[in-house]
Amino acid sequence: MARLIDGKAVSKQIKDELKETVADWKTKGIEIGLAVIQVGKDPASSVYVGNKKKACEYVGIRSESYELPEETTQEELLQLIERLNQDDGIHGILVQLPVPAHIDEDTIIRAISPKKDVDGFHPQSVGALSIGQPGFVSCTPAGIIQLLKRNDIEIEGKECVVIGRSNIVGKPMALLLLRENGTVTVAHSKTRNLREVCKRADILVVAVGRPRMIDASYVKEGAVVIDVGIHRNENNKLCGDVDFESVEPVASAITPVPGGVGPMTIAMLMYNCVEAVELSKA
Ligand code: GUN
Repeated sequence: MARLIDGKAVSKQIKDELKETVADWKTKGIEIGLAVIQVGKDPASSVYVGNKKKACEYVGIRSESYELPEETTQEELLQLIERLNQDDGIHGILVQLPVPAHIDEDTIIRAISPKKDVDGFHPQSVGALSIGQPGFVSCTPAGIIQLLKRNDIEIEGKECVVIGRSNIVGKPMALLLLRENGTVTVAHSKTRNLREVCKRADILVVAVGRPRMIDASYVKEGAVVIDVGIHRNENNKLCGDVDFESVEPVASAITPVPGGVGPMTIAMLMYNCVEAVELSKA
């Protein structure tokens, strides 16, 4: 039977640590500010944005929320970002993705000052990560590293397989595992013999975006399995990319959905906001 990796507990631990740092900044007269921008009313995005605002409240970060109509033009959004780039009271800027189709996501990501890029999506942040220099790291993969470390799961020398190659999760995940001296394979939709590749993994990170695709036939006995997916099944219940019931008896440790990776993304966003204020004072 696998050990459950409790993302809710680790997330709380990190937020409690950050709460103290945030309070220290307050005694020095600095209130950390995060601007959260949502364009349109995608219901999933609204849930994520709501959770981000709640986390800000918990750690003592001031969140400024911009809920813009679906018809907002790219120019208007760029003007808002530029204003927030110049605003000394704002340390982090987050534009919830996806943005409506008439807005170019890449242009928006590049418009955010790299000093306030708490999502870690700016090419400068991604470039810094790829050459091992300090910078903001995408929250979900950064959270997964914390989950592993704080559960005493060693990465060094391990066979790590990441399924998925997105800019937000798969690619930065691979770079972070490499930075921790893992031996990293990135698998994706065109990978041949996916089962065999996954079966090599001591640590398997699943970000395929397909409900319960990965069952026990993909998993080596004793592997650590990290499930990045979140979906609703036929009964409206949350499930991941991993078939939990099938994999749990085979794995040595596994993240549940919900309560695994999800809460870590938000904790690391808070972490990046604190890093942003430290950067702005550097
Ligand atoms: N949409 C889904 N995940 C994320 C995230 O981590 N950040 C932003 N800005 N949008 C998202």
